[in-house]
Amino acid sequence: MTSLSSAPSLQTSTDPLQLIDVDHVRFFVGNAKQAAYYYASAFGFEVAQIADLTTGNRESAMYLLTQGNIRLLLETSLTKDGQAGREASMFGDGVKDIAMTVFDAEKAWKQAIKNGGTSAYEPRVYSDASGTVTMAGIQTYGRAIHSFVSRTGAYALPALKQGGLFMPGFKLVEGFALNDFNRKNPCGLKYVDHAVGNVELGKMNYWVKWYEEVLGFAMFKHFDDKDIGTEYSALMSKVMASGNHLIKMPINEPADGKKKSQIQEYLDWHNNSPGVQHLALRTDDELASITELRRRGVDFLSIPDTYYEAVWKRVDAMLTQHGHSIVKEDHQRVKDLGILVDADDEGYLLQLFTKPLQDRPTLFFEIICRRGSQSFGKGNFKALFESLEIEQERRGNL
Ligand SMILES: [Fe+2]
Repeated sequence: MTSLSSAPSLQTSTDPLQLIDVDHVRFFVGNAKQAAYYYASAFGFEVAQIADLTTGNRESAMYLLTQGNIRLLLETSLTKDGQAGREASMFGDGVKDIAMTVFDAEKAWKQAIKNGGTSAYEPRVYSDASGTVTMAGIQTYGRAIHSFVSRTGAYALPALKQGGLFMPGFKLVEGFALNDFNRKNPCGLKYVDHAVGNVELGKMNYWVKWYEEVLGFAMFKHFDDKDIGTEYSALMSKVMASGNHLIKMPINEPADGKKKSQIQEYLDWHNNSPGVQHLALRTDDELASITELRRRGVDFLSIPDTYYEAVWKRVDAMLTQHGHSIVKEDHQRVKDLGILVDADDEGYLLQLFTKPLQDRPTLFFEIICRRGSQSFGKGNFKALFESLEIEQERRGNL
């Protein structure tokens, strides 16, 4: 007989803050129609569903973009007083909401508030004959919020993943040629691996505690912890993870470095306010994804060739030391595609960062592939800086 103590955790039914999935990431943008075209064309998202004037929405236009298990909701205001429009003018285009699917949105919201969270909005129920979507939001750093979303009937998550409607008021997009092109030319992006927030100087630990207390997250122990290199990267970072590690939310704050902190630059251009710095999108095949994204014209950060003079030694030595086989991807192709590599005691990862996705130097994407490693590529901060120094030295400017 199985004893009670060895039975699976009963958390599923008792913990209202248990997260089931990243439900969607909502962007506030200046022009959702054009933004949808950009994310479809550059990153291969399907423009799947829409809610706008044609569906009776007279406040805003929303586009649901999908790829793998990633759902982006792009929203723009149709009137001068709309919230999305006001925020787009303050912060530029960017992430408003990292929404989580839960079993009961109202219960999760109540629990988060009981834990010290602040409401962003009270529970809203969207219902029709097919089913119900309930949403309720709490405020996190800056203008960002987390919505809790619970779904029933035809709007349940499994149905949504199969192409079902997002919620009442949405309709499927038919006959958009770019969707056909994207199906034939996939970019291979699967899900949101992590979402990084930039907060003000001295506020990192405040938000670490907030995620612990309000959402029941825990500090994620990983290799990067040991070598936060403020001298090079001019940032401090701690990674928070949900109980089931469904999502990781690293929190950055600026630090004094040799150059102006990239975090401070973000804050300067984000209305001096914290916000989501990047979304890391996971692929199973970094080389194929980056090849396709580059073909589509995505602008990535460029890496000096000198980076590759040191990287294989560093990474393969780490892997060998911990009994792992070395990086299996073709080293020349990794270099040709300008992909970054890092390793830790558990394996390695391949990653590459886009340039900002809008005119302000704020939000960007990371395209990441994990081969065992659960860390975030901290080794690359130092390596990148050092490779830049090699270049400077060659120019006689060091
Ligand atoms: Fe990242």
